[in-house]
Amino acid sequence: MKRVITYGTFDLLHYGHINLLEKAKKQGDYLIVALSTDEFNLKEKNKRCFFPFEERKKLLEAIRYVDLVIEERSWEQKSQDIKEYHIDTFVMGDDWEGKFDFLKEYCEVLYFPRTPEISTTYIKERLSNK
Ligand code: CTP
Repeated sequence: MKRVITYGTFDLLHYGHINLLEKAKKQGDYLIVALSTDEFNLKEKNKRCFFPFEERKKLLEAIRYVDLVIEERSWEQKSQDIKEYHIDTFVMGDDWEGKFDFLKEYCEVLYFPRTPEISTTYIKERLSNK
């Protein structure tokens, strides 16, 4: 069984997220999403989530492409996760292009083009301007 992992916040789930998850799942048979905790988002990404962790997790678990959701609590956990979950392929959107090439030592590393013109930030901005 080929195992794939991806990382992210996935707040205000949108079709850009779904496209990424669909492409990630196509790389293998089992997709793990490491979902940023609220604390990690705030401390490390300076993002305050609209939906709390448990709600974001529930949404992801309801998606047919997602097999397992785990917590992302640090930048450093990736190599450990790859070993622990026997990951074959690591996937991210191309806003992260090149940033995780050091993981090629452990598994395949792929970056997919982002879906244009949609992001959580964009949704928040549009709604706040109404
Ligand atoms: N993603 C994507 N296409 C988009 C938006 C996100 O492929 N239009 C991908 C990202 O590249 C990442 C994953 O979805 O691999 C989770 O991204 P996340 O940062 O949670 O979503 P954004 O909408 O980019 O959030 P923000 O605006 O807060 O940065």
